[in-house]
Amino acid sequence: MNHRAQTRFRVRPGSRLTGCVRVPGDKSISHRAIMLGAIAEGKTTIKGFLRAQDCLATAQAFKAMGVDISDGEGGDVHVNGVGLQGLQAPRSALDLGNSGTSMRLLAGLLCGQRFDATLTGDASLTRRPMRRIAEPLARMGASIQISEHGTPPLRIEGGRKLRGVEYRMPVASAQVKSCVLLAGLYAAGNTCVIEPAPTRDHTERMLAKFGYPIEWRKGEARLQGGGHLRAATIEVPADISSAAFFMVGATIAPGSELILEHVGINPTRIGVIEILRRMGAKIELLNQPMGDGEPVADLRVTHAPLRGIDIPAALVPSAIDEFPAILIAAACAQGETVLTGAEELRVKESDRIEVMTAGLQACNINVQSMPDGMIVHGGQLQGANVDCRGDHRIAMAFSIAGLAARGDIVVHDCDNVTTSFPGFSELAAAAGLQISVS
Ligand code: S3P
Repeated sequence: MNHRAQTRFRVRPGSRLTGCVRVPGDKSISHRAIMLGAIAEGKTTIKGFLRAQDCLATAQAFKAMGVDISDGEGGDVHVNGVGLQGLQAPRSALDLGNSGTSMRLLAGLLCGQRFDATLTGDASLTRRPMRRIAEPLARMGASIQISEHGTPPLRIEGGRKLRGVEYRMPVASAQVKSCVLLAGLYAAGNTCVIEPAPTRDHTERMLAKFGYPIEWRKGEARLQGGGHLRAATIEVPADISSAAFFMVGATIAPGSELILEHVGINPTRIGVIEILRRMGAKIELLNQPMGDGEPVADLRVTHAPLRGIDIPAALVPSAIDEFPAILIAAACAQGETVLTGAEELRVKESDRIEVMTAGLQACNINVQSMPDGMIVHGGQLQGANVDCRGDHRIAMAFSIAGLAARGDIVVHDCDNVTTSFPGFSELAAAAGLQISVS
């Protein structure tokens, strides 16, 4: 393995997770709050905004298009909305770093502008598939170019008249759905997106919160172009995708009892709780206040022995980002866990099937990869060197695995943890993980 001079986590085994932890704000909701705040009329306040590289890339892109975004008191972020037609041409290409959400959602929104724009990103993002958005956007009348491999950079020509579509998505992707809906704001007539399986509905909920008429139910969303958005106050709950590492950690480490505060439990995101519970995890939902936006709860997670299961394919979209953590739980379970219907994992920040397979094998776990998933035979994790290949969630998953290993787990190439979870190692250490960073 060739280890570049990058952040490395070393985790010593034998500890447990206790106390009360609040993980940072939800990434998906933070992106959308900046985007919708920017095209709304008036001043939007975002509470609990995730100050991670991915969401900062979104904020930076809107600043480059003339939107005033500033820090307020107590960590609030203020966005001075310019209205649907108020964005200005950026002077150079918009660099969205590692963030697929920024690129795909922005592409939809930019197709409706009067100016041209180019969207690019880092080595991982410029390998990710973009035909899935270019195709429906072209159908709406947009001019969008991608590389011959179907990857970024995206070159969008403005000044096109968009028309609404009824789009049946071939893949279950909230990013594609949101991209088409955002283009639909600028299109003549109705835009309707039909999903092969329900995906996260944060865009739909937030458009409604900004006063934009939208109808949606499981697997389908519909809106009409030509309306407008009114500024709102958005409260961002803690990210269930970040909480997932702590859920698994507390489950696999004997003696653990951990409270995770104010976690977003949107029904389209809670596959991880459902899957871990089916494996035997003890996760209780406490204090569920009724709100008008996104549902939240405190989670109490207590150590519990796990058993392998067949993960129902229907649960995959609602746990799509949590598989690195879930597969660590599977490695610690008794028996076999089978994951299928998860080919989307191959086109995330890394090929997560390949990278998780290699990492678990390095830890002496018997794993077979398949085109659309993996079979994990639970066993005893051994200490190992793991290369997470720059994938933030894989870095955090193997750090948590250190709780149950028989030896140190050293995770290489962890710089990108800051794309979604700044302060991960400090928060994990405060809860009891014996982690050092070099
Ligand atoms: C996201 C949707 C998911 C998820 C990503 C965030 C979003 O991607 O993996 O981390 O905010 O819409 P897909 O919808 O493409 O599966």
